[in-house]
Formats: sequence, structure tokens, C-alpha cells
Amino acid sequence: MFKQFAGRQRRQRLLTLIAMLPLGLANCAHPLIQSGATVQQHMQQVTVPAANTVFAVAGTEPKDDNEWATVKTHALALENSGAWLLAYPAQIDQQRWQEAAGNMRDAAKKAAIAADAKDADSVISAGNTLYEACESCHAVYLTQPASRSR
Ligand code: HEC
Repeated sequence: MFKQFAGRQRRQRLLTLIAMLPLGLANCAHPLIQSGATVQQHMQQVTVPAANTVFAVAGTEPKDDNEWATVKTHALALENSGAWLLAYPAQIDQQRWQEAAGNMRDAAKKAAIAADAKDADSVISAGNTLYEACESCHAVYLTQPASRSR
């Protein structure tokens, strides 16, 4: 129970970060995030929209087949996103990067299976694991470039 509550609070922080995205885009001097190309674009275009849909199940349960299908599609996109990150040549802490990306991919797959079964509790639980993976990678990489090649 407490764990779930804590998970919700941490997720709230990430959702705040997501909500701040347009600000970050408008203001190049964003203090938290260094400018960068590939991973940042991938986050904005693929990871964030897909994660939003999966995380949203914790607030509002999908109400029909269509909505469940949307959650499943986005969870699968997130699984692909995890695989994409896994293949990305990260610097600094390669082991953490791969662990976080792999955990993200696996948790997203669980969320897709749960969405297929229309099992909201399991989607939420996979979403919590997913969130841990986002945060684990960001703890190292949000303030540092993901690759020296940029
Ligand atoms: C394996 C590492 C990794 C994982 C896992 C990861 N991210 Fe990221 N994320 C990054 C990096 C690196 C950046 C910073 C990119 C940059 O600015 O160059 C970033 C940036 C972001 C940003 C800020 C984008 C911007 O406009 O600057 C958001 C929002 C974000 N991630 C959301 C997520 C969510 C949601 C998840 C989990 C579903 C997630 N990330 C999982 C590596 C990761």
C-alpha cells in the first residue's frame, strides 16, 4: 500500500517533468537537461507519449475495448523504445544504462500483456516498475550527455 502510494508520488514528479516539456523546448537554457539530439528526441517523440498512456491507467481505468487497445499499442511502443535505448551506445555508466533500458522494455511488455487481458491492476503494477526504470536511468543521465559522440 505504502509502496504504491510512494510510487504514485514519484510518478507525479515525472509527470511534472513531462508537463514541463514545452517549457524546456521553448527555453534552451533549461537548467536540468543539457541540449542533445537523438535520445532527447526519442524521449519526446516515442517514450513520453507512450508512457503517458500507460501511466494514465492509474488515474482512469480504460472503459472500452478501444481504450484498452490504445493502452496496449502504447505499451508495445514503449517496449520497442526500451529495445531502442538498449541498443544505444551510452557512455558514463553502460551497465546502468543497459539495466534500466532492459527493465523498461520488460516492464512495458508486462503492461502490454496486462492491457491485452484488460487487467488494470497489473498495468499499474507494471507501470510502477516502468517508472523505476525511467528514474534509474535519469538519475545518471538527465544532467549529462548520453553519448560523447554528440
Ligand atoms: C536508458 C536510459 C533512459 C531510460 C530508461 C529513460 N530515459 Fe528519459 N531520458 C534519458 C536521457 C539520456 C535523457 C536526456 C536526453 C538529453 O537531453 O540529451 C532523457 C530525457 C527525458 C525527458 C526530458 C526530455 C526533454 O525534453 O529534454 C523525459 C520527459 C523523459 N526522459 C521521460 C522518460 C520516461 C517517461 C521514461 C520511462 C518510461 C524514460 N524517460 C526512460 C534516458 C532514459
